[in-house]
Amino acid sequence: MMSKSVTLITQNEAMRSILTNLDKTVGSDSSILLIGETGVGKELVAEYIHRTSSRSMQPFVKIGLSALPAELLESELFGHEKGAFTSASAEKKGLFELADTGSIFLDDIDDFPLHLQSKLLRVLESRELMKIGGHTSIPIDVRLITASKIDLKELVERGLFRADLFYRINVVPVTIPPLRDRREDVPLLIEHYLQRFAPDKTITVSPDAMRSLIQYHWPGNVRELRNTIQRMSLFVTKEIDVQDLPKEIREENPIDYLLKACNRCFVDGNMTFDQITACLESNLIRQAIRQAEGNRTVAAKALGMSLSTFRDKLKKYDIGLDVS
Ligand SMILES: Nc1ncnc2c1ncn2[C@@H]1O[C@H](COP(=O)(O)OP(=O)(O)OP(=O)(O)O)[C@@H](O)[C@H]1O
Ligand SMILES: [Mg+2]
Repeated sequence: MMSKSVTLITQNEAMRSILTNLDKTVGSDSSILLIGETGVGKELVAEYIHRTSSRSMQPFVKIGLSALPAELLESELFGHEKGAFTSASAEKKGLFELADTGSIFLDDIDDFPLHLQSKLLRVLESRELMKIGGHTSIPIDVRLITASKIDLKELVERGLFRADLFYRINVVPVTIPPLRDRREDVPLLIEHYLQRFAPDKTITVSPDAMRSLIQYHWPGNVRELRNTIQRMSLFVTKEIDVQDLPKEIREENPIDYLLKACNRCFVDGNMTFDQITACLESNLIRQAIRQAEGNRTVAAKALGMSLSTFRDKLKKYDIGLDVS
């Protein structure tokens, strides 16, 4: 059996070093936790990990925890014996058993119900499991890969996620940066998807359109880019120009941009209005400094602020000019 290859496109330094570090774990069974926004490529990286590992010829089982009702989860993961409950008319193998000798990918691990977390931890620690209604333990040898869109540490602090399970799955944490933090990948991905979706046409991208595509904040990350290119490749015959771009990319709304850049404020419902506006304001200033590459005058102008107001704000929020 040939192992399926995974096309992971990037020229970003942070992404490259993630892949280099992952390549070092090829022969190990350490658990990996992938953290990143929606569409950044967590599942793709999980596949990459499995396909490059010494388990690549063995099963790779994926499961999205947010898509599964909690009542079904236990028997899906661990299986059940015949007659274990009313609807258990036959014995069922769980996904852990199906993944035996291979890898299992638990997506949206932050949605893992608290009441099943101790059972999951037990299976991981003891490397054996007991089916629901079963009496004997089955040895299980799986490598665990998990993914989360949110910071699990915060869930641990709020008592929503067991600390011991967190340490067990967080052996190798990998944070995948959003696309807006690795804009150099945008042209590469565009080229890749044009090839994929319009192999018979030679579609180019005008410089202005490319500029808008690179500047856009891509809240849906690579998935959004992929869908955008797929849609455009249907109707564009030669060149993608600015007017071919979806409205939200053509006219990036600065408020949207800001809200997306600062989703922490909205996740944390305990913040007061003043704290939220301060957080937004300081993020906007940091962003402007970054874009102006540390030039105060340029940054102040971009924000439509006088230089003295800008200076006051830097002092107020204790922001330096070396924001990176
Ligand atoms: N570096 C990349 N090169 C090529 N394709 C990519 C890359 N990153 C992501 N993709 C593609 O983008 C899409 C979304 O990626 P994926 O499903 O892995 O994201 P995700 O982080 O798991 O998202 P979610 O959190 O919503 O589940 C997929 O079609 C995937 O193949
Ligand atoms: Mg996913």
